[in-house]
Amino acid sequence: MCGIVGYIGPRTAGSMLIEGLKRLEYRGYDSAGVAMMDDNGGGLQTRKAKGKIAMLENALVASPLDGNVGIAHTRWATHGQPNECNAHPHTDCKGEIALVHNGIIENYSALRKKLQSEGHTFVSETDTEVLAHLIEAVYDDTLEDAVMDALRLVEGTYGIAVVSSKDPNKIVAARKGSPLLIGLGDGEYFVASDVAAILQHTRQVVYLDDGEMAVLTRDGYHVNDLNAVRIKKGVSRIDWDLDQIEKGGFDHFMLKEIFEQPQTIENTMRGRLVESEGFSKLGGLNLSKEELQHIDRVIITACGTSWHSALIGAMMIEEHARIPVSVEYASEFRYRNPIVTERTLCIVISQSGETADTLAAMREAKRRGAKTLGLVNVVGSTIAREDDGGIYLHAGPEIGVASTKAFTSQVVALALLTLKLGRLRDMSVVKGREVAQAMMKLPEQVQEILDRASEIEKIADEFDHATNFLYLGRGFNFPVALEGALKLKEISYIHAEGYPAAEMKHGPIALIDESMPVVFIAPHDSVFDKVVSNVQEVKARGGRVIAILSEEEPSLEGKVDFEFRIPKTIDMLYPVLAAIPLQLLAYYIANKRGLNVDQPRNLAKSVTVE
Ligand code: M6R
Repeated sequence: MCGIVGYIGPRTAGSMLIEGLKRLEYRGYDSAGVAMMDDNGGGLQTRKAKGKIAMLENALVASPLDGNVGIAHTRWATHGQPNECNAHPHTDCKGEIALVHNGIIENYSALRKKLQSEGHTFVSETDTEVLAHLIEAVYDDTLEDAVMDALRLVEGTYGIAVVSSKDPNKIVAARKGSPLLIGLGDGEYFVASDVAAILQHTRQVVYLDDGEMAVLTRDGYHVNDLNAVRIKKGVSRIDWDLDQIEKGGFDHFMLKEIFEQPQTIENTMRGRLVESEGFSKLGGLNLSKEELQHIDRVIITACGTSWHSALIGAMMIEEHARIPVSVEYASEFRYRNPIVTERTLCIVISQSGETADTLAAMREAKRRGAKTLGLVNVVGSTIAREDDGGIYLHAGPEIGVASTKAFTSQVVALALLTLKLGRLRDMSVVKGREVAQAMMKLPEQVQEILDRASEIEKIADEFDHATNFLYLGRGFNFPVALEGALKLKEISYIHAEGYPAAEMKHGPIALIDESMPVVFIAPHDSVFDKVVSNVQEVKARGGRVIAILSEEEPSLEGKVDFEFRIPKTIDMLYPVLAAIPLQLLAYYIANKRGLNVDQPRNLAKSVTVE
């Protein structure tokens, strides 16, 4: 999704802005641009390019900019083609105001018509360009006053950064519905939509909330609302290290993140699991024991991979805490009339904490009286700041667009929550201990699987030319089938579907022939024998079977084409182990097809538009 970075201070802005944009590349984009106040008397100048940031760098080599105030942007097209003209920054008629924008201006069409009737000339097809002209139209005294006046006329969502040659030593930034933060350096200031863009320079940040505007000068910054009332903001410290947002010797972030999972799972559990007592300590829930016992219904809402972990969490909570749980696509939740009471707990799962649909669903659940609990990875993200309580995943930055380590940490966090809710209800201490002990083994078991990654790579060699894949699993492993299929399709562009294994005979079985690989997730759980029957149904029709089995099972040799063994665990935790070979399979297939694994086409790391 779009990215913003801006700089004001004593240093040359150009290289820092480009480097910041490169750190945002993972979010997905199709064009990029930069605007700087040129120190050599050139006034406000912009350079833009379609495609990768390298193209923008070429443009800057051909026509360099020099200065120490600037803003830059990576665009992911919403309104208008991805081309140089539609790339940000956008400027006003005189080229005195330049602006970058994440979000969508909903009333841009009406505003554009009005501005055109007043004589403004538009050059792009974007919604964003109206903002630059609107600021020009209302400009009177200072840049911040003009931005405030303009934003009062705007409907929609925005994170913006604006510079102007009429007020040259300043960046004005504002937020409504699209993340933005201010970085505090030593005598220098940054604005960014994602901390990764500025982590190299500072760890001190101020998160802007909706309706807030920041004014950055060479001497300091302040934050106010759109009525110019000053707001006192706290400074947060970012714990992430720079090496966490670098590839560290791996070919891709995705592979690095897959291999980090023994550590990230450990981090999710650290200090929270009390093995001897079979319960978990979750400090951030902000719910008393009585409030937790009062809950009579759980709704889990999320999108994509996070929705898959929600399905697993629902089964865990129903089975062990005996509370009815429904799982909702966040994008659907607020457009129906869900049953929510003050006894409802709404669990919101989001790696980024910024997914627009998930955020909107959480706000809707809150509005209807539910208590909200965020399972979020990115500290300080909007969902994490707006939920009533939360469980941070502590998986560290996830840069690969395909979510991997966040998924396993989500499942582990849901297991911790299940222990908490279960032990406050019917779950015995013996059962609690059994779950806790199995959880403790996960990091080592994931490592065992990763040590055999080459076995999966060999299987991938057989299938990189496949055009369709089917993933089948039952019980806790049905969501794993969905997740395996999602991983494969998003990075390899191979059509893949996940189904509950027994559902196959109600339709998908028609697709089975020798060109259809079928991945069975069939560890030795309570439905194993049933899944073996489904395997036979596929083999009888010539399908090629890859089976993910657990170590205690007899070999299915003769019945399947490839077997991969995962260590033994309890039913509810098999998703953590079974997901790993499926992540690897997707990775190796996509890599063999020569695709850009970390930045798959059309996808964005966090989807901050509805
Ligand atoms: O940041 P979130 O967990 O809210 O993101 C939700 C989905 O957009 C995300 O999981 C997406 O499906 C990933 N690309 C999956 O790999």
